Amino acid sequence: MIHYNEANEIKNNAYCPYSNFHVGCVLEMKDGTLIKGVNVENTAYGSTICAERNALLHSITQGFKQKAVKSITITSDSDEPTYPCGDCRQVMLELCDHNTVVYMCNRTGEKVKKRKVSDLIPTNF
Ligand code: THU
Repeated sequence: MIHYNEANEIKNNAYCPYSNFHVGCVLEMKDGTLIKGVNVENTAYGSTICAERNALLHSITQGFKQKAVKSITITSDSDEPTYPCGDCRQVMLELCDHNTVVYMCNRTGEKVKKRKVSDLIPTNF
C-alpha cells in the first residue's frame, strides 16, 4: 500500500544544501516492516545518494534479502510526481521483484503515479 504520510514526514530529514530539493522514500517490506530513506548530498555532487537507494541499501543492512520489498513510496518538493532516476531504477531491478509496486507522489500527495518496477526498467542486464 501507499505510505505517503510517512514518506512526506521523513522527507524533512533530507540533507540537501545544494539543491534544496527534499526527497523521502518508504519501503514496505513483505513482512510489514517500513524502511525509510532520504537524499543525502555532497559537495562532490556525484557522491550524492538518492532517497530510494538509501532506503534500498538500508534494507540489506537490516538483514532483508533480495525480493523482500512489497512497495516503494516516493515523494519530494515537486508539484509533479517524483520519478526515480536511472541509477535507482537499476538498484530496484537488482533488489525488488519485477512486480514490486512503486508509488510516485507529488509534494501534497494529490498526484500519484503507480507503476511496477518492470514498467520503470523493463529490460534486465
Ligand atoms: N533525488 C532523489 O533523492 N530521488 C529522486 O528520485 C530524484 C532525485 C535527489 C538527488 C539530489 O539530492 C536531489 O534530489 C536533486 O536532484
